[in-house]
Parts: sequence; structure tokens; C-alpha cells
Amino acid sequence: MASPLDRLSYAARQAARVTWYAGHYAAGLRLMKPMPKPDFAIGPTPGRAELTADIRALFRREWQDITAGLFPPPVPLAPDPGRLLRRSLLYFRDLPQVDARRHGKLDDELPPGQQGDGLPDYYRQNFHFQSGGWLSAESAALYDTQVEVLFTGAADVMRRRAMKPIADWMAGRNQRELRGLDVGCGTGRLLAFLHAAWPGLRLAGLDLSAPYLEEARRVIGRTARVKLIEGAAEKLPFDDASLDLVVSSYLLHELPPAVRAKALAEMARVAKPDGLVVIVDSIQKGDRPDWNGLLDLFPHYFHEPYYADYVAGRIEDQTADVGLVPVDSELAFLSKVTVLKTDRR
Ligand SMILES: C[S@@+](CC[C@H](N)C(=O)[O-])C[C@H]1O[C@@H](n2cnc3c(N)ncnc32)[C@H](O)[C@@H]1O
Repeated sequence: MASPLDRLSYAARQAARVTWYAGHYAAGLRLMKPMPKPDFAIGPTPGRAELTADIRALFRREWQDITAGLFPPPVPLAPDPGRLLRRSLLYFRDLPQVDARRHGKLDDELPPGQQGDGLPDYYRQNFHFQSGGWLSAESAALYDTQVEVLFTGAADVMRRRAMKPIADWMAGRNQRELRGLDVGCGTGRLLAFLHAAWPGLRLAGLDLSAPYLEEARRVIGRTARVKLIEGAAEKLPFDDASLDLVVSSYLLHELPPAVRAKALAEMARVAKPDGLVVIVDSIQKGDRPDWNGLLDLFPHYFHEPYYADYVAGRIEDQTADVGLVPVDSELAFLSKVTVLKTDRR
């Protein structure tokens, strides 16, 4: 049961996060050269006040779920202020290179020695204009800060909205008998939150990036309950109907359409008939029509080769093609949580 002190500590920690990353965002705007105005039509965009109000509402919803006993308050994943500061320095040191790529002055899709031989071509790019793409330890160390700055401190809470449908589905189930997988787990933050909330659950995280998996191990800590596997979403190394829970956050919009379809088909294949699949990814066109302009601008400001295609579609249509049925969904700031079950019951 959460106490008033827990509530205070939750509110203080989330407010500090937002302030910290919003500060980075504002400093970044000053340090980076403005991008030329897009030469294509963009939809409507929300104002800062509307975005801030939406983030606040998100934290309120999470707190309600915590007080309802669905899951405990989130564990701090970067408890060491020294590390936070070092990450911040790394972020600002890398910013000029990100900026140069944004303005077309650096076209090193991947630096020498980090070519990712054997990895798919679509994967070997500087996604988000980040140095090293998905393929360097430096990129893995920078990624969480970059994402939190982009979402002004709301990235973790958006990921954690996956925990509400998971908590509902867990009711009456014995966590120690369940196996879950995070597809494209990256630096492992969602896995770390899931492990903290349900320590008995046997989890695996899969990603194509060895450096990101190394960072994930650091974030999650040493535990036999969370295994990390280097592998591809489009060829999951699991048997048919072998997993109770499949989650994936911010992977689908990074994949070319044909690979995305394969990854979804794989998630459907490995999920048990009474299992749960939860996808967290960008909102899509029409989810918040008044915010469509942000979805138009995002791939223009950040290197996101497959994002426009992703947001133009409907996740429900793509999952229907592979036999996954949406049973619930929640808009969480700039993300959408889609809850699916297999239709093999
Ligand atoms: C935007 S990040 C999301 C990471 C993490 N899930 C999160 O919430 O931040 C995308 C991740 O997907 C991984 N990835 C991209 N394509 C993949 C594929 N085909 N198979 C497995 N992982 C992939 C990348 O290495 C990267 O770690």
C-alpha cells in the first residue's frame, strides 16, 4: 500500500526528471543550428502547455495504478548522480556531431570499424542521427539520455504504461510459472521495470545490438531471472506458443514494413494461446489528429527512415494480418500501448 510519503517521493522524482531533461532539451535548442523549415505540408501541432498537461496526466494515471496496488512505484534505474552527470556530459559532447548529421554535413552512416558485418542493411544506419547507430558502446551509453531529452523526461513512464494491462492479465496467475520476452529490448529499461515489479517472472530480452545488450545487463543487474539474447525480431529463437507474455517498445517504427510484418508474425507465433502481447510505440496518424504535425516533423528532424510509413498505418490492421487481436489500447503522451491476444484460442 503506497503511503503519502511514497506519493511525495514519486511526485518529486518525476518532477525532477522532467525538469532535468526539459533543461537538456532547452539547452540543445540553443546549441544546435535551427533546421530549415520543412518544404512539405505539416498537420496541426500542439502547444507546449498542452504537451505538459498531457505528461502530467500520464504521471497521474500511473500513480492511480500504483495506489490501486497493480504494481509498485518505479525503481530508480539511475540512482547514482555521478553517472547521471557523466551521461549528461556525453550527451552534450556528442551533440555537435548529431547536429552536423542533421544538416547533412556528416554522412557516416556508420563509423569505420563499426560496420556491423552480417547485420541487415536496414539496421546499419545512424538512426536518430546518433553516433554509432545501434552498434557502439558509446551509442548505448547515450541512448537513454537522448530518448529522455526528446520526450522531456516522459520516456520511461510511457514504456511503463505496458505494466497496467500486464498487471490486469497477471491477476490470478502465478508469476513464477510465466515466461516473458521483450523484443528489441535495447538498453533494457522496460525489462528492468518488469523485473522489479514481478521478480518471479522469467524474462528474456532480445536485441540485435551487442553493446545495447551489455548496457541492458548493467541497467537490470545480475539476475538469472532476466536472460539477454542477441538475435533478430524477425526470427525469434523460441518455439511456437512457448511464451506467456511478449512485449516490445519502440521497435516497430524502426523497421522497414516487410521486416515489421515478419516481427509481428514472430510475436504471434511464439505467444501462447492464452498469452498476452503488449506493444508500446509511437502514436499513429489519427490517434490524436491535432498532433499529426508532430508525426510529420519527427522524421524530418531525426533520422527515422521507416517512421512515416509506420505512423501512416494502423497497428490493428498489421496485427490482424498475423492473427493478433487488439483487446485494449491507451494513448500515453506521444505513445500508444496496444494490448493484443492471439486468435488461436
Ligand atoms: C528505438 S530502440 C528501442 C529500445 C527499447 N525497447 C526502448 O524501449 O528504448 C530500438 C531497438 O531495437 C533494436 N532493433 C532494431 N531492429 C531490430 C531487429 N530486427 N531485431 C532485434 N532488435 C532490433 C535496436 O538495436 C534498438 O535497441
